[in-house]
Amino acid sequence: MRQPVGKLLLFGATGDLAQRMLLPSLYGLHADGLLPEGLTITGTARHDHDDAGYRAFAKTALDEHLPADRQDEAAVAGFLDRLHYHAMDASQVEGFAGLAEKLGDISGGLAIFLSTAPWLFAPTIKGLESAGLAGSNVRIGLEKPLGNDLKSSREINDIVAEAFPEDRTFRIDHYLGKETVQNILALRFGNAMFEPIWNARGIDHVQITVSETVGLEGRAGYYDDVGALRDMVQNHMLQLLALIAMEPPARFDGTAIRDEKVKVLRSLRPIGPAEVQSETVIGQYRDGAVNGEIVRGYVDELEKPSTTETFVAVKAHVDSWRWQGVPFYMRTGKRLAARQSEISIQFKPVPHSIFAERGGMLQPNTLVIRLQPEEYIRLLVMAKEPGLDREGIRLREVPLDLSLTTAFASTRRRIAYERLLLDLIEGDPTLFVRRDEVEAQWAWIDGIRAGWKANDMKPKPYASGSWGPTASVALTERDGVTWNE
Ligand code: BG6
Repeated sequence: MRQPVGKLLLFGATGDLAQRMLLPSLYGLHADGLLPEGLTITGTARHDHDDAGYRAFAKTALDEHLPADRQDEAAVAGFLDRLHYHAMDASQVEGFAGLAEKLGDISGGLAIFLSTAPWLFAPTIKGLESAGLAGSNVRIGLEKPLGNDLKSSREINDIVAEAFPEDRTFRIDHYLGKETVQNILALRFGNAMFEPIWNARGIDHVQITVSETVGLEGRAGYYDDVGALRDMVQNHMLQLLALIAMEPPARFDGTAIRDEKVKVLRSLRPIGPAEVQSETVIGQYRDGAVNGEIVRGYVDELEKPSTTETFVAVKAHVDSWRWQGVPFYMRTGKRLAARQSEISIQFKPVPHSIFAERGGMLQPNTLVIRLQPEEYIRLLVMAKEPGLDREGIRLREVPLDLSLTTAFASTRRRIAYERLLLDLIEGDPTLFVRRDEVEAQWAWIDGIRAGWKANDMKPKPYASGSWGPTASVALTERDGVTWNE
């Protein structure tokens, strides 16, 4: 049951995520009248602001990150009125009493958004508990990184679990806040025609690509310790895979959906020392040109040597009846040729072509779910080219196109965090990641990393602006499959 809280507490309130995503998202919800009336938003961080100082800070963030047509003077003023600030060093447990005092009465419920460095989890949770900010009407949203392997993720989850039971713990994967990602569920389970062939009999393989053109973006300290596998595959891409591969849940709720996702994640065929060389490819970008702009290579940007992968491609399998023999090819990387996230489902060919004798060539159908930059669902189907066919029948693949941007033109596209923050405030866990899912994700990822280590696998160089190392092409070509570009 949804139960909105009366107060929101933001840790990391002056950080990059707060400026680019959280404040603009909260403003969006406020401007549309979606935040509970009277909800106050208290920010905390080490920066020395008072309420007025933080409001000015937030105003600057909105000016910078909100499109001009969303800036409504009265709405901005009303939003800023909701904001408060308490400067605090979260590593000092004693400081939390002052935070509790600043928050005042939380009997109407409190939602906490915590994005913090891993070593601050323990003192923060302890501080919250000691100051009475972890009671039964308090829920906590956790932003990544939540550990960097299964062991550290368990440690963090244990620390959090001491104060917050699982039903009050909301782990964020911002990909689940994206409309097109939620649309996977609508497409699969709101239509009768896909499900009967959504299995190894109907599907040849699945490709999931999340390619980015950006490089380090000033996040060297974080990224170099993490790499593409843990930054993108462990969370976002495995969640996409789970939504594509899951069995139909019995109902649309947090338990049913997450029960089905975790089954998929636990069915991922382990990739270890014996498989990494053939099933994974890693790369690191060198200099090159992206979108016509000359860019430096990763180690130049980093200013020190590094063997961190900025590209990874994996051929995964889900060991279940439904998916036996169907490869799930995933790839992601920085400084690639284009910013493009999409899932492409390659169906099997028809069992027998009646057109072959008349020269007609058939391509198997492909369903493309494009997440960004555009949002569309495109089904490639065979059609006959107009003509008298005297020299044979000409068939061509044409798209059945559903542009979500056009179909829902009058609906504003929201930032993924708008949805997730609202669900956190209202207490709907469906789009948050449960502990068993995260742990299944880490277990699989740890196996791959152990395999890389055992084989001393180093990233292969690729030019910025390309589609990654050539070995990633070979990964699929071996199976007669070409990456969708
Ligand atoms: C984040 C990663 O989780 O997702 C970043 O840490 C990445 O490295 C980002 O750039 C991609 O998100 P989006 O929404 O831009 O696809």
